[in-house]
Amino acid sequence: MALSLLHLHLLIITTTFFFLLSPAPAAARSPQTQSDTPTPAPWPEQFHALLFMNYSNSLSMVDLWYDWPGGRNFNIIQDQLGGPPLFDLEWNNGTSFFYTLREPLRCRSAQLEVGVLRPNWLDGATYLGRAHVNGFLCDAWTKADFIWYYQDVESSRPVKWVFYTGRTAHVMTFEVGAVLDDAAWQAPDYCFQKNDTTKEQQLESPEIFSFDNALSINHNLIQQNTMLRSSLRS
Ligand SMILES: *[C@@H]1O[C@H](CO)[C@@H](O)[C@H](O)[C@H]1NC(C)=O
Ligand SMILES: *[C@@H]1O[C@H](CO)[C@@H](O)[C@H](O)[C@H]1NC(C)=O
Ligand SMILES: *[C@@H]1O[C@H](CO)[C@@H](O)[C@H](O)[C@H]1NC(C)=O
Repeated sequence: MALSLLHLHLLIITTTFFFLLSPAPAAARSPQTQSDTPTPAPWPEQFHALLFMNYSNSLSMVDLWYDWPGGRNFNIIQDQLGGPPLFDLEWNNGTSFFYTLREPLRCRSAQLEVGVLRPNWLDGATYLGRAHVNGFLCDAWTKADFIWYYQDVESSRPVKWVFYTGRTAHVMTFEVGAVLDDAAWQAPDYCFQKNDTTKEQQLESPEIFSFDNALSINHNLIQQNTMLRSSLRS
């Protein structure tokens, strides 16, 4: 995906910012041989994680269902004391649906050029060294100037990741092999209505979609997921 100039600009600013903030032990700066540089564990092919998200003090919980064999990924987003959960359903053919299942009922879809993240999406990440994160000793990597990723040294489970904007995911549970029932992956009927002009606009420019407050709050999160997938897929 071609990033816009604005995105690149933001990226440069926030990257600089993050190098200042990110724990980068001395080891990360000294040259290391290939063999003793830790590499991130690939994601399990299927897992369920509960994420506690913080973006400039806007808190949310995300139910993440990653299903690589199923070619699908779910982010079910609940803002703190917010509206109904927002379902962000991503298919490997590039189609994404964003919808609510309680009033106000809404659905938008988007067609992206990329599918869901591959289990090995962290391959080639740059090792930054070790840091204590949320009480866990972690190895840290950064990838594509988009994400900083912290993995527990002892269990190899992810503990935290931080997008370049500062949006942070704290991993609260990580159930390897957990799979959500097929029925739950079915987007509701109102996602398939043909006469919705807003939906057509959305298909053309997914990055500017915003159809109500609940969604626009999460717009940034979804956009980041999308940009992440795009930049790491190539
Ligand atoms: C959320 O992040 C902000 C920094 O952006 C921090 O000051 C605040 O303590 C965090 N809140 C929680 C509940 O972690
Ligand atoms: C992608 O797959 C989903 C789920 O099967 C389907 O709803 C959607 O129409 C597909 N999109 C395309 C472009 O084929
Ligand atoms: C168009 O969609 C709206 C909901 O968005 C629905 O109420 C209406 O019946 C639809 N009209 C036609 C002609 O399908």
